[in-house]
Order: sequence, then structure tokens, then C-alpha cells
Amino acid sequence: MLIYIVSYITRNIKQPEVNEHQTKITILIFLLQNKKEVIQVTNLKLDTPLLAEKYDELSNIQFDNGSILIEKLGIKEGDRVLDIGCGTGRLVRYVSNVVGSNGKVVGIDPLPLRIDIARQKIKGENISFEVGVSEDLGLFEGSSFDLIYLNAVFHWVVNKEATLTEIYRVLKPGGRIGINTQARESPGCLKLTTDSVLSRQPYAKAVVSSEDPMIKHAVTSPELKRLLEVSGFRNISLELRKTKRYYQNSGEIIDLVTSSSFGNYLIHVPVHLQEQAAFEIATELEKARNEKGIEFISNNVFAFAQK
Ligand SMILES: C[S@@+](CC[C@H](N)C(=O)[O-])C[C@H]1O[C@@H](n2cnc3c(N)ncnc32)[C@H](O)[C@@H]1O
Repeated sequence: MLIYIVSYITRNIKQPEVNEHQTKITILIFLLQNKKEVIQVTNLKLDTPLLAEKYDELSNIQFDNGSILIEKLGIKEGDRVLDIGCGTGRLVRYVSNVVGSNGKVVGIDPLPLRIDIARQKIKGENISFEVGVSEDLGLFEGSSFDLIYLNAVFHWVVNKEATLTEIYRVLKPGGRIGINTQARESPGCLKLTTDSVLSRQPYAKAVVSSEDPMIKHAVTSPELKRLLEVSGFRNISLELRKTKRYYQNSGEIIDLVTSSSFGNYLIHVPVHLQEQAAFEIATELEKARNEKGIEFISNNVFAFAQK
């Protein structure tokens, strides 16, 4: 197909007044504009101080789901707890009040800017924060936590097997893991709207939708159950939860998703089309407005298991 396009352009552009150099440039521009780029996903280098601050300000949807996760996980006074992918640490503060002065909460996250905010805003004798990834929990001894949770994190994690092996290692025998993550089998309204806009031109010819970093590493509920099983966990339970919220403007939703994804939203779209795509997605989201605001639905899976 590409060869056909190149030869078609060569045949049709080459006219007496166009020199060979100009023809080559025209072909190059055409190819660049129509190239479907395959982009490395979960890029941890795109975070900025503004995105980190925005996330702290706008992440009520993650915080509310996280509170449900923690309640269902059964954290209690005196527990030692690890929050993996803690972001700016809002849930760590919440958990520190539950475990009290006899307990301990450690938050880790690979984004130093978010750990900086957490350290500045959330202080306590029973709290600590570290920069680190889920795939390598070498900072911690084996069997050192009663409970470990990942809230709105697992769909970003590239190596899930390594992550679960490490979690299994650092959990005490009988300790529990709780995961709240996107359910890949049931995309929420943002994903559906994004896909619908990107299926139109000029995006369709330039975007590989399976490369969307927002879902590239998300798993279905059966896949999550299987991953937990092969990592040695028992007493596995899963539940799908639908969350509905209302936003007063679509710009806030775009800010939320950009900051939640630490700058990864729409990176599978060529740079020169990203702003236009975000505008069209915001316009589509406005169509879900009713008297309460713009309806925003997400579908998550909550998984629990024991070592
Ligand atoms: C949407 S935020 C959730 C933050 C926090 N858990 C909350 O509930 O607000 C996703 C977080 O996952 C983190 N993350 C991405 N890949 C990770 C990995 N491999 N290990 C640990 N955290 C990771 C990001 O740095 C980011 O802070």
C-alpha cells in the first residue's frame, strides 16, 4: 500500500515546473503526516509540576474509589500498609488515621514530583514516602506488610507478573492485597468518547487505537484473576463497580485525565493533532450534559486476595 502511495504521488506530483528536491520533500511530508506511529507506552518522563499539582487538586474520583477499596480491604488499627503508586499521597493520609500510631503506612511512586508533594503535604510519625516502582520492591524485607493496595495504578503497570511476585514476597503470610483498576472489558465514557473521535479523520489514518496508553496495559477481570492465581494468591474475589460523577465543564475532565495519566493522554496521537483531538473530545463530552452537569461514567474492577 505504502509503495503504491509513494509511486502514486511520484507519478502525480512530478510535473515539469516542480523540481526533484521539492517532490521528495512533498513525499516526506505526506508520509510523516500519514504515518501510524507506535509509541512507547506508560512514559514516566512526561510529568510536570503543574500536572502533579492538578492531580492532587482534581483526583476526587480516585480518592473516593480508593476509600471504598481500603474499607473493603479491612485495614485496621496497628496494621503495616504499603500503598503502591501512591501519587500525591491523599490515600496514605486517610490510611494513616486508620492504622494509628501503632501502625505504619508507606507510599511509593515512580514520579518524584508527586512524591515531593506527598512529603510536603502529608506528614506523620507513622508515614513515609519513597520513589519506586511496583516491579521492584527491593526497599522492603520479605513478609513486612499486613496489607498492600494499588488504587488506579495497575492499568499503568507494564510488568504485572514481576509486580505480583514482589507483592507476594513482601506480604506477611495471611496478608492481603487490594487492587482497584480499570476493567478493560467495560470501557468508561472517556475511552468510548476518545475512540469515537479518533475513529474520524484526520486521526483514523494516523492513530493505532490499540496503542492508547490509557488501556494498553489494562487487563480484563478474568485476566486479573488468573494473574493473581499464578502468583500464588488464594481467596481471590473480584467485583465490578460502576462510578458516576458529574463535572461542570469538559475542560476539567481533560485536565483530570491528563494529570491522572501524568501526561500520557493522547500521546498515541501525532503531536500536531493532539490539541485538536482534545478539543473535539471535550466537545463530544459536552453532549452528555444534563441538569446536574456532564455525566462521567467509569467501570472498575476491585480485586482482593490473600497470601
Ligand atoms: C492515577 S494515579 C493514582 C495515584 C494514587 N494511587 C491515587 O489513588 O490517587 C496513577 C499512579 O500510578 C503510578 N505508576 C505508574 N506506573 C507505576 C509502576 N510501575 N509502579 C508504581 N506506580 C506506578 C503513577 O506514577 C501514578 O502516580
